[in-house]
Amino acid sequence: MPGLVLHVTGARPNFPKAAPVIEALRTHESDLEQLLVHTGQHYDAAMSDVFFRQLGLPEPDVNLGVGSGPHGAQTAAIMVGLETLFTERRPDLVVVYGDVNSTVAASLVAAKMEVPTAHVEAGLRSFDLSMPEEVNRMVTDRLAELLLVTSTDAIAHLGAEGVPAQRIHFVGNPMIDTLLRLRPRFAGDELRAQMALPQRYAVATLHRPGNVDRPEDIRGLVRCMHEVADQVRVVLPLHPRGRARLDEAGLFEHDNLQVVEPLGYLEFMGLVAAASAVITDSGGVQEETTVLGVPCLTLRPNTERPVTISHGTNRLVRRETVAAEVEAVLARGRLSQWPVPPLWDGSAGTRIAEVIARRLAG
Ligand code: UD1
Ligand code: UDP
Repeated sequence: MPGLVLHVTGARPNFPKAAPVIEALRTHESDLEQLLVHTGQHYDAAMSDVFFRQLGLPEPDVNLGVGSGPHGAQTAAIMVGLETLFTERRPDLVVVYGDVNSTVAASLVAAKMEVPTAHVEAGLRSFDLSMPEEVNRMVTDRLAELLLVTSTDAIAHLGAEGVPAQRIHFVGNPMIDTLLRLRPRFAGDELRAQMALPQRYAVATLHRPGNVDRPEDIRGLVRCMHEVADQVRVVLPLHPRGRARLDEAGLFEHDNLQVVEPLGYLEFMGLVAAASAVITDSGGVQEETTVLGVPCLTLRPNTERPVTISHGTNRLVRRETVAAEVEAVLARGRLSQWPVPPLWDGSAGTRIAEVIARRLAG
């Protein structure tokens, strides 16, 4: 009996991580059955459907349709839906991705039902408990049986937390599998023409609660983004979180700053790949710019992905300094050579499938 692997996804960053794992298991000789669950945490077409289409993900077998809500309500709704589903389908292993509420909800349900979990992207730590993601990561890792890590710092964190070494597997970064596979199809050219972008432009993304939730932070954020736009054309595909607050605070009122709807993966990566600079608070974008060699300025006080600084093109910046940092990056131009973290090589999905198949073979 080969066994049933149940993948839990729900939010935008889950999709590029899950796609290579699902594909590698589909073609793996072990012939494991797979079930793909979408919790419905993200539901706008631009935050969800477009990724299924562009990444070649199968249609979810189940969509719990939980939608938005405060942390407790959203996490609880996912747990209620998953408990019923796990009871019906009795998975042999649950695979969870990253650090979103869907991830921790699935981990809690699986643990209480004594179903083993595999955590893809285990061991990352910002050491900042004001981030909901840090809470989600710590709980998920504590409960996971298989800890699938993207970088060596994660191995050290898990070791320091007492996780036995045999449960930790250094598999590389599945999000980078997706990037390398789809790079030939990145769709920046048409979009750049449509938007009449100059040769030199920056891409920005902003959605962290620490940046976009509090009115007192937003004023400073709008000021600093306008200072950046004084120097270079900025395209900002804006996440729905904070959109109304940023609009109200005047973000859109700068001729050199183009705020657009969230973009599809191929369009977004197409723009990022040819950008002179990226300004972001996203986790995934720090990793993607690292592989593409695009200078990345991360508007956060910390990062759970320090490998993108030690190996990549990332720098942490403050609102007060971002304009000067952008100026320096534009003057320097893009690097011709840079180191890429080990095992960010396009084969993480295959390695993950191997670990999962071995575990289920007994
Ligand atoms: C979530 C993750 C965050 C991740 C981000 C990626 C948690 C705790 N946070 O944050 O780690 O970086 O996704 O994008 O899981 N909304 C829509 N349409 C949608 C989805 C959301 O309009 O399709 C709006 C709603 O107003 C909602 C708000 O965005 O209340 C926040 O959505 P939510 O999923 O709670 O958190 P994110 O900020 O998206
Ligand atoms: N992304 C996209 N379109 C956008 C913004 C982001 O396709 O307009 C992709 C990009 O690949 C990124 C991923 O979505 O890495 C997840 O991004 P997000 O910033 O939402 O989540 P985080 O990584 O911060 O949790």
